[in-house]
Amino acid sequence: MVQESTIFTKIDKERLPAHIAIIMDGNGRWAQEKGEDRLFGHFHGVESVRDIVEASAEIGIQYLTLYAFSTENWDRPQQEVDGLMILLADTINKEVPILNKNNIRLRMIGDMQMLPEFARNGMQEAMDKTSQNTGLNLIMALSYSSRWELVNAVKNIGLAVQAGTINPQDIDAQTLQNHLNTSEFPDPELMIRTSGEHRISNFLLYQLAYAELYFTNTRWPEFRKNNLYEAIIDYQSRERRFGKTSKQIQANNQ
Ligand code: IPE
Ligand code: IPE
Ligand code: MG
Repeated sequence: MVQESTIFTKIDKERLPAHIAIIMDGNGRWAQEKGEDRLFGHFHGVESVRDIVEASAEIGIQYLTLYAFSTENWDRPQQEVDGLMILLADTINKEVPILNKNNIRLRMIGDMQMLPEFARNGMQEAMDKTSQNTGLNLIMALSYSSRWELVNAVKNIGLAVQAGTINPQDIDAQTLQNHLNTSEFPDPELMIRTSGEHRISNFLLYQLAYAELYFTNTRWPEFRKNNLYEAIIDYQSRERRFGKTSKQIQANNQ
């Protein structure tokens, strides 16, 4: 596609974010606008997942975290929750050969114990089968929320203090990092949310401290490679100051 390659060539391949995190939102509204059931939107959202995973692997992104199901999403109507879990297990199962072909390693953050057994087993199997892959890390956030993660981290640090393996005086940012679900991943530099909502919805609250936030009105089932490229180009146009002044940043870049 001519248009796709035009946008693609504008990306500076030397300054890619290592980690992109996406809140995949708007499936339900997209479906309802078409007079369809919400699950129809989730079903079509899988196409976008495929496209964005493929684009990320092609371009050389190292970590892609996809918020697929939050702790709070368990409170949705049972029929939608059941449909999402079946869709998840089916998709994961079908995608493993493609993940392996593209050297993609599947990971998960979130409360795995909350998943129904068939979905939990499917995820575990897919993670095991892709564990040797060294390309893109595809991190699915499932039954995930940041507050759940932080409470767990604090609890585990408390237990380690009680067991005598951590000295409270030594607790620092690294200690907390080590106890997060994301301990093996760098913080995302770019966070994208689709569908026009401007909030974080309990996603990576700690890890997004210095992420560049990108919001688009595009509903997730319509989000494709070009939309991702546009987000990356926008990210590359920003000056990331980390508390310093613009002058300091520019001096450092010279
Ligand atoms: C995101 O789409 C997918 C999940 C949360 C599972 P939504 O289902 O939230 O779609 P909207 O926001 O209702 O349109
Ligand atoms: C956030 O979307 C969670 C996922 C995309 C998985 P929601 O649609 O659940 O978020 P709220 O309820 O609009 O904040
Ligand atoms: Mg939503």
